[in-house]
Amino acid sequence: MRKYAASGRPGQITSQTFTAHPKFDPTTGDMCAFGYAAKGLITKDMVYYEISPENEIKHEVWFELPYYCMMHDFGLTEDYACFHVVPIVSSWERLEERKPHFGFDTTKEVYLGILPRRGDAKDIRWFKAPNCFASHVMNAFNDGEMVYFDVPMAKNNGFPFFPDVHGAPFNREEAAAVMTRWAVNMGDKSDAFHSMTRLSDFVGEFPRIDDRYAAMPYRHGFMLAQDFQRPLELPNGRSMSGLMTNLLGHMDHATGKTKQYFTGPTSTLQEPAFIPRPGSVDEGDGYLVAVENMLAENRSDLVLFDALRIDEGPIARMPLELRLRGGLHGNWVPAAMLPDQPRA
Ligand SMILES: [Fe+2]
Repeated sequence: MRKYAASGRPGQITSQTFTAHPKFDPTTGDMCAFGYAAKGLITKDMVYYEISPENEIKHEVWFELPYYCMMHDFGLTEDYACFHVVPIVSSWERLEERKPHFGFDTTKEVYLGILPRRGDAKDIRWFKAPNCFASHVMNAFNDGEMVYFDVPMAKNNGFPFFPDVHGAPFNREEAAAVMTRWAVNMGDKSDAFHSMTRLSDFVGEFPRIDDRYAAMPYRHGFMLAQDFQRPLELPNGRSMSGLMTNLLGHMDHATGKTKQYFTGPTSTLQEPAFIPRPGSVDEGDGYLVAVENMLAENRSDLVLFDALRIDEGPIARMPLELRLRGGLHGNWVPAAMLPDQPRA
């Protein structure tokens, strides 16, 4: 297991921004990441970095997006970096009118940019798709020149806090995202997608994997899901405002089968993270950990599942001493990967 350096050479990164969703290449330990609006607000400039565990930039590519938009996450494969351009857009006019920074534009096309990881800006291909919404990426992989990119995808805007730029009201039905596999062929002269394939019926977001299988063909995916048909029982005065995520979903891409865990009528879950079982190498052999917000009791538990048996419920429950608000994202790293910490 690679240990990461505590500090690096200052001044290497010249981008003004850095993504919240870097990927770690499990083969090299390199951190692969990007910055958008990298030369300033509302600019189309992007930069892609590959950074070693010793904090040295090994590869750096600057390029421009088809249009300025919020670039929140991306996909990494063995040979390619994949950037989905979805019209969560902005402009100086929006800012001068004091509108929310971003708005969703249903009239713009979606792009998937594929950058060969050992290539340069001139090697990027931009594939086009009709308007849709997508944000967090489950995983990506390539088989030769075929590139596969798995993402929860919705017909329309999934972010009510970034309103429609043409004034349309938020459409909750069209905002429902389901896991979809985008495929493009780098060997194809066409700039059209090769295919879009639905992978499960879960409606949700916050997809996660066994990160030892990041950027490569993989079998197991996990996500938070929403089932509005399930009962909701909260005491008077309490609400499940914000994002209700009452299901944990597991999808087996090899069999197409799914498993789910319903967290009960008074709780909501935050993003799960995968913990490999010590000594294991097989994909999915490990645990899922997530925060459960117990809204009726006004407290939070850390819940632990056998990752491939989430339908059997938590195998451990750790009450937290303070209530955690919906922080959405969660992560886990083994202590052995971290730089040595000063001990109290
Ligand atoms: Fe995020």
